[in-house]
Amino acid sequence: MNDNRKVWFITGAGRGMGADIAQAVLAAGHAVVATGRDTDRIAATLGRSENLLPVELDVTSRTDAEAAVLAAVSRFGRIDVLVNNAASFYAGYFEELTPEQVDRQLAVSLIGPMNVTRAILPVMRHQRSGHIISISSSAGLAAGFDFVSAYAASKFGLEGWMESLHAEIAPFGITTTIVNPGFFRTELLTERSTNYAEPSVADYDERRGPLLEYWKSQNGRQSGDPAKLARALVTISSEEPPPRRFIAGADAIATTEQKIADLQAQIEAYRELSTSLDFDREPGAVAT
Ligand SMILES: NC(=O)c1ccc[n+]([C@@H]2O[C@H](COP(=O)([O-])OP(=O)(O)OC[C@H]3O[C@@H](n4cnc5c(N)ncnc54)[C@H](OP(=O)(O)O)[C@@H]3O)[C@@H](O)[C@H]2O)c1
Repeated sequence: MNDNRKVWFITGAGRGMGADIAQAVLAAGHAVVATGRDTDRIAATLGRSENLLPVELDVTSRTDAEAAVLAAVSRFGRIDVLVNNAASFYAGYFEELTPEQVDRQLAVSLIGPMNVTRAILPVMRHQRSGHIISISSSAGLAAGFDFVSAYAASKFGLEGWMESLHAEIAPFGITTTIVNPGFFRTELLTERSTNYAEPSVADYDERRGPLLEYWKSQNGRQSGDPAKLARALVTISSEEPPPRRFIAGADAIATTEQKIADLQAQIEAYRELSTSLDFDREPGAVAT
């Protein structure tokens, strides 16, 4: 066995970015536990290799997550890198998304990574090493546009959870990376992956049509190449330490820079009021 070989555990590896990541990791000589809801599809997409273990895992199932981790450890003995990649996309106005759709968005894209990470952390703690990569989105940093409120809620949640988790697990030698991709040409905007809300509120009628057209027209025209992003993840994961955050794509960098500028402008606009909110000095207190 190659001494530098790491064991990667990837969710949603049967298609889209997850499949590209699995291919890039295998090409770099590492081992892959390629998980997904359909293991036949994983085998068809990734082929066969002694470095590859396809395992069934619906990220909404804690039982699946625990069984997949057991299978991974019994085959490869360890897990070095977890990629929380699987997600869904419920697109539409918040008022037109049903409560069940919002629940499902959060169950797959926020609670799903938590389920898988909870199952893997004991393995990484025992090893005193590991790297957890969670795929967020530009919409996990800046979401000032229509149709993504539920998706953005899941990705902002993912980021807050990851940032705090980092502090909790870094003392065990476990590192974390949040990835913010811009638009990448995967299957995310196909009918298989994007679930649009049913029109139900007439006030949105005029705006809904052009937006639907916009989102559907983006499918197949995204500028980002997921195979390149996959290779970039292999590169950053080999760094000591890996970056806490990786903004993926020129479009994602522009979105992030705008968000930083907006936050700074909001601070400056109210700095005086914001900094005047402490209790007044107690009478008789001595200034230090
Ligand atoms: N593509 C982009 O432009 C873009 C931009 C920003 C962020 N992202 C993020 O990148 C990640 C990958 O998305 P993608 O672009 O590759 O989308 P995709 O082509 O639609 O792939 C989504 C993957 O998630 C899996 N999945 C969905 N629900 C699942 C569940 N309950 N359990 C296990 N797997 C499940 C799918 O597997 P099935 O075959 O079983 O459905 C599929 O493998 C996601 O986190 C997404 O939010 C993508």
